[in-house]
Amino acid sequence: MEPEYLTISETARRAGIKASALRFYEDLGLITSERTAGGQRRYARDVLRRVSFIRAAQEVGLHLREINESLRTLPAERAPTKEEWEAFAQSWRPRLDHQIRTLEGIRDRLAGCIGCGCQSLESCQIFNPGDTAADLGPGAHFLVGDG
Ligand code: FES
Repeated sequence: MEPEYLTISETARRAGIKASALRFYEDLGLITSERTAGGQRRYARDVLRRVSFIRAAQEVGLHLREINESLRTLPAERAPTKEEWEAFAQSWRPRLDHQIRTLEGIRDRLAGCIGCGCQSLESCQIFNPGDTAADLGPGAHFLVGDG
């Protein structure tokens, strides 16, 4: 039977991250630990699920602040139920869909750049997407006046 609590090194090894990352997450309130009489951290096993979630969220570009807000909707003192995780995952869907659309847009714009390399601020949609100043014509339009 697996131990109920893990040391910081065991947790880090099983989560695939450095112990310093665990301490950082804990400082931000993303995860919690118990302390032994000697002051050493002990993590409940369900912290591995939280760390996996944090890592996945970071992979899709969420800020730690957003992740923290999401995690606060889950119980801190016990592992979330299957239903709680499902509801939680569903709450992410709009954000993930937006992220996917953003990446698809970048991919499509990048297609015109392959083999080009011009880096044009006039025509390249990667180097200057949505250039609103182009409608104003050539020249500097945002300089503060002399007077
Ligand atoms: S680099 Fe030339 S169009 Fe983007």
